[in-house]
Amino acid sequence: MMTTLSGKSVLLIIGGGIAAYKSLELIRLLKQRQAKVTAIMTKAAGQFVTELSVASLTGEKVYTDLFSLTDEVEMGHIELSRSADLLVVAPASADLMAKMAQGLANDLASTTLLATDKKILIAPAMNVRMWRHPATMRNLATLKADGVGVIGPNDGEMACGEYGPGRMAEPTEILAGIEAHFAGGALPLMGAASRPLTGRKVLITAGPTHEPIDPVRYIANRSSGRQGYALAQAAVALGAETVLVSGPVHLPIPPGAQMMPVETAAEMLKTVEAELPADIAIFAAAVADWRVASASGQKIKKGSSGLPDLKLAENPDILKTVAGAKAKRPKLVVGFAAETENVIANAKSKLAKKGCDLIIANDVSADKGVMGGNRNTVHLVSATGVESWPELDKQEVARRLMEDFARRIGTKA
Ligand code: C5P
Repeated sequence: MMTTLSGKSVLLIIGGGIAAYKSLELIRLLKQRQAKVTAIMTKAAGQFVTELSVASLTGEKVYTDLFSLTDEVEMGHIELSRSADLLVVAPASADLMAKMAQGLANDLASTTLLATDKKILIAPAMNVRMWRHPATMRNLATLKADGVGVIGPNDGEMACGEYGPGRMAEPTEILAGIEAHFAGGALPLMGAASRPLTGRKVLITAGPTHEPIDPVRYIANRSSGRQGYALAQAAVALGAETVLVSGPVHLPIPPGAQMMPVETAAEMLKTVEAELPADIAIFAAAVADWRVASASGQKIKKGSSGLPDLKLAENPDILKTVAGAKAKRPKLVVGFAAETENVIANAKSKLAKKGCDLIIANDVSADKGVMGGNRNTVHLVSATGVESWPELDKQEVARRLMEDFARRIGTKA
């Protein structure tokens, strides 16, 4: 299965700091998404993680030494810095940030960072006082001005026992930043303040539902689940507690999201109701409109009694049920409208019929390749008007939508 990172090459520079252990998880996540990861470790990083563990996870040689004859013969350090699609520095220590800002090149990591012509994303991690020091703030401003992407640090308790900004962003957040970059978005420039859904619960339905005819047959549709899964990943990246209620799909679970697998519309409704209250509920699932009224407990045999007489019954409308709930109605209820004609007019009537706050409408005519494809053109239809976006990658649509939803509900008091 293809992902945004399939075939992409990431050069991961692991700086010295206790957060280096989290870069092992980052490697695992990148590899899971089919990226090639090559790692450089600074001398200090070797105090926290071993070359062997990094090599085992990347499946590649780990580079540590600027003046290694063997390394230069195999892959010169200039080539190392040029052959990657993106350089990620995680953790970026105060020392590494200072070297980068000054353009120093006195070890393999700093030389590579200076020699590269590729984008760089750093995930700083250090003691809160080091982070707040004017020198680090100056270096940060210089790096941002140089076009370096920054993710984190987050607020929290630190290994040294102090509290404040300085914790490295979680591997799932760094991954989301990397994916957004490869999906065509800008590199993130974010600290803890840009996680506006921290403390919020986001509930998302995704995928198709399977409505059984008998134990081996079912009614289904072509939904891939991609848009819903991308939304879950974007919600995690913005700090939300994210619950993904998903029909059967062939997609990896977005890291950091809580997955609740279901098959039928009835199960989906029951699971969604059990997960309320939530702050935002997004209904991206392509729920089957009908189920077989009385599915057979045994496989229906071909032949003897002619064609099976399948009676259909209407499925519950999950979006409408939740949007109309007296108690536990989420603050923001979002529906999707997949249409093949009169996209905006149909979305407007759906907004009223379902009682939700927002409809994300898209054209799923076969020639648009939206169903099962990786790109989408959406229109945001609300009581106050229609906002149409250009065609974007589904990951980028998800990222922008989730930021829009976060703005709509405001920050937590
Ligand atoms: O009515 P239609 O299927 O076009 O509406 C689409 C919106 O309603 C989507 O957000 C979909 O997830 C939701 N829906 C639902 N339960 C259904 C049918 C649709 O939640 N039974």
